[in-house]
Amino acid sequence: MSRALPHRWLRRPTDGTTDGFAYGADYNPDQWPREVWDEDVRLMREAGVNVVSLAIFSWARIQPTADTWDFAWLDEVMDLLHAGGIGVDLATATASPPPWLTTAHPEILPVTATGETLWPGARQHWRPTSPVFREHALRLVTAMAERYADHPALVAWHVNNELGCHNVYDYSDDAARAFRQWLRERYGSLEALNHAWGTAFWSQRYSDWGQILPPRRAASHPNPTQQLDFKRFSSDALKEHLRAEREVLRAITPDVPVTTNFMVMGETKGMNYADWASEVDFVSNDHYVTPGPQALDELSFSANLTGNIAGGRPWFLMEHSTSAVNWQPVNRAKRPGELARDSLLHVAHGADAVCFFQWRQSAAGAEKYHSAMVPHAGPDSDVFRSVVALGATLRELAPVAGSTRRPARAAILFDWHSWWASELDSHPTSRLRYRQEALDWYSAFLALGVRADVVPAGAGLDDYALVVAPVLYSLPQALAKELTAYVEGGGHLVTTYFSGIVDENDHAWLGGYPGPLRDLLGIRVEEFSPLLDEETVALDDGTTGSLWTDQITVSAPDVEVLARYATGHHAGRAAITRRPVAGGSAAHVSTRLGAQQLTPLLRRLLDGAGVSSELPPEARGAVELTVRAGRDADYWFLVNRTEQEVTLAGVAGEVVIGGPAEADGALRLPPVGVTVLRRPAAGTA
Ligand code: GLA
Repeated sequence: MSRALPHRWLRRPTDGTTDGFAYGADYNPDQWPREVWDEDVRLMREAGVNVVSLAIFSWARIQPTADTWDFAWLDEVMDLLHAGGIGVDLATATASPPPWLTTAHPEILPVTATGETLWPGARQHWRPTSPVFREHALRLVTAMAERYADHPALVAWHVNNELGCHNVYDYSDDAARAFRQWLRERYGSLEALNHAWGTAFWSQRYSDWGQILPPRRAASHPNPTQQLDFKRFSSDALKEHLRAEREVLRAITPDVPVTTNFMVMGETKGMNYADWASEVDFVSNDHYVTPGPQALDELSFSANLTGNIAGGRPWFLMEHSTSAVNWQPVNRAKRPGELARDSLLHVAHGADAVCFFQWRQSAAGAEKYHSAMVPHAGPDSDVFRSVVALGATLRELAPVAGSTRRPARAAILFDWHSWWASELDSHPTSRLRYRQEALDWYSAFLALGVRADVVPAGAGLDDYALVVAPVLYSLPQALAKELTAYVEGGGHLVTTYFSGIVDENDHAWLGGYPGPLRDLLGIRVEEFSPLLDEETVALDDGTTGSLWTDQITVSAPDVEVLARYATGHHAGRAAITRRPVAGGSAAHVSTRLGAQQLTPLLRRLLDGAGVSSELPPEARGAVELTVRAGRDADYWFLVNRTEQEVTLAGVAGEVVIGGPAEADGALRLPPVGVTVLRRPAAGTA
């Protein structure tokens, strides 16, 4: 059986095959009359589309009643696509249960923390732990897999869709039962659970498993460890659903890779994707731009993290937008050049597929104002012309496909447990945003033109010269040991405020913060003093802190104080410290500085670690560099982050895409433009 794409997507180190990029979209032909389908395939071919995700929301059409099935239309679409040379990432179609199912079984509907039912009428109205939903979903998965197992258009399975997008937290009785089971497995005994949850506090001690509930709306702050465990459980419950669908697919079609689209983007934090990655045959991600001053930085951050979750191997950009979305308060259209630049920035970070939501803009329904490859205006439109042009660009880039991420020398550590735990209620401040602090450091790296990998905790740090671990609030002993060993082995570690505060059970480390990193950092924090919204504090290096201050006592003689508080009640005390340790160092930044002010500090820290930009000085900040490592060459992606032309001198290489070098060897990057250079592999130049 020959399939168009799958071999390169199977989870294994790249074999260097360069059969080009996957390019396409979610395709919803069931929203359109039959005659449109032929035009769709014709336009897809014109655009260079070679893969579509099909049937994501088609359950009600495929199974119109509990006992009837209608595959005829889908057979026809599969055949048409195959005849057009287009592969299908076929959905299991379980994302949106049909009305007959929710009418017959309202007990599959999710319930909020306040006991409200989330009714049908939108999508994803199902409880991740409902045995009834699971049974019906797996019946559908089985039917899909059996029907299309041998269809030549099938290149991959798309489990459900954006698991947890709307239903990650379900507080129903099904969830309560599954939560108790999850807790039994985690703790083994009620005694261990009572200890972990600190139930001596507020008379919360449990004497029977049946007394335990999800953290439903309570009279005051629910138990924090209960909340944290419920977040862990909720991520695991969805992962369990993913596994259940995957097992059906693997049994029927063992040769077809299985994926599901993650949502590494913005503040979407319910699913611990670092933990999910090994469950899929290749990592897929959906990303939508968050408008604002760090929009592009955030796109890069998300793509970078996705690439590292995928272990540096190529991944699949399953969805992004050609232009506006429909679900932000104001839905900005993309400016000229942004469609291609945004897509290629994902490619720069390791994506080997560029797909959009969706192929043809819906005429009806909640997403009719969401952009698509074919807009309401039709193919005679700038958007479609840009889509066709991007298809051609991806063909020129074909030699890059299959290449892996070349690791940077610096990294930002990203940890879902700290993200979840640091933003719980009843904390020193409700204003702290874990991902924003990490993003600010990332923006500082971008401003300096220094590549940094955003790596999930546990991925291994030894190859990095410098690691920033922002707001590493939750610090189990094992991670503290890993970080200590990293520094003692010559690494340079940077921590921030609200790091090293609790263990994995959310119990405070005693004796002064930051708990098990105190000795390494050579400091002891006795008390935090978060700042009020408009309050700031001056540092004696001319910067201004916000959000947070720590009361620091320097406890080791070799600690270098990089800045002190100049105002506030910690005036005169250390604010930023660094302690040299065995060739490495451990630094602490005790207030929020924001991206701009972090930039000079980061430069200093990078200098100390011997890490510098690979870009010429005039391009730093204006251009983002990423490097993909092919079998016998490196590919340098130079992404112009500005709306002005940027000229780069002294960056040599064979141009794969982008304008050729000037006579004097300088490269000219057009506004919002991307140039890719083929260069000798690092270490062979
Ligand atoms: C998500 C979903 C799509 C669509 C887009 C809109 O990514 O997976 O079905 O709703 O959002 O941005």
